[in-house]
Amino acid sequence: MIQKDIIINGSTKIYGLIGNPVSHTLSPTIHNTTAKIFGHNIAYIPLHVENDNLQKAIEGAYALNIQGLNVTVPYKTQVMKYLYALDKTAETVGAVNTLKYTDNGYVGYNTDYTGLKRVFGIRNISFNNKTVVILGAGGAAYAVAAMAADFSPNKIIIVNRTLENSLKLISHMKRFYDVKIEAMDYNELDSIDEKQIVIQTTSIGLKSDDENSPIKKDSFFKNVDVALDIIYKKGKTRFLQQAEKAECTCIDGFDMLVYQGLDAYEIWQQIKIDSDIAQKILESVKI
Ligand code: ATR
Repeated sequence: MIQKDIIINGSTKIYGLIGNPVSHTLSPTIHNTTAKIFGHNIAYIPLHVENDNLQKAIEGAYALNIQGLNVTVPYKTQVMKYLYALDKTAETVGAVNTLKYTDNGYVGYNTDYTGLKRVFGIRNISFNNKTVVILGAGGAAYAVAAMAADFSPNKIIIVNRTLENSLKLISHMKRFYDVKIEAMDYNELDSIDEKQIVIQTTSIGLKSDDENSPIKKDSFFKNVDVALDIIYKKGKTRFLQQAEKAECTCIDGFDMLVYQGLDAYEIWQQIKIDSDIAQKILESVKI
């Protein structure tokens, strides 16, 4: 077991997570545990930002010399306009979850994308001849769509409550990827005949007492091979309970959460975290 306590002094560099809500987050544990392993003098804290305060929060964090921030719901796309520059991953994904302090302002990266790619890569999941169904069209869905396109599936289908947001995501994807991608309504889901990989990216189920799922009919899972919910919380989300009942391969958001954190840590500290240490961190932060 790795000790998780940190000592803060005058040289401690501050990092954090901005979002609303942030109370459920495991990111401080991931980063402070990693800092402990490497002996880095950093502290990583959750920073709740109210919906109208994003610009002030970014400017304030920069003025306070905060060296890096992760960004979560609902700011992953909104935050982009307050940044000095975007790294290639953030530009092609079209969303940002990691900010790095530079002399000119924050630079945005997307480690949801790299972290999720690691999750599918490590598990050797094949996208050949499969349709990828993405539930939701918010910031997280952008990273998921870009990741899915890299694995060359047959088709990507975006399913979202607000069609306009699906169309925005599709138009972004068409600028950067040569992939078949279309929008669909929740009530048309049963019409998909092909084998599917389904990735749940909405905020439904995020709160500990939220027992809802974006999928209303369990019959939807009949052609689903793999179901991934990017949410991670104690106990399974309703979406994964439905998928498990239908005997799909189920993956929760834990590994993605840790890998996106470790990828952000690598960017901030300019180090490489090898797979043994990554595994040790995964085991030590599991709740
Ligand atoms: P993030 O940037 O972190 O992904 P977001 O942009 O707020 O967060 O996106 C949240 C996603 O969850 C959106 O796709 C949202 O759907 P809308 O585009 O229709 O707003 C989806 N979402 C949130 N609550 C939902 C609900 N009750 N039912 C269906 N979709 C929901």
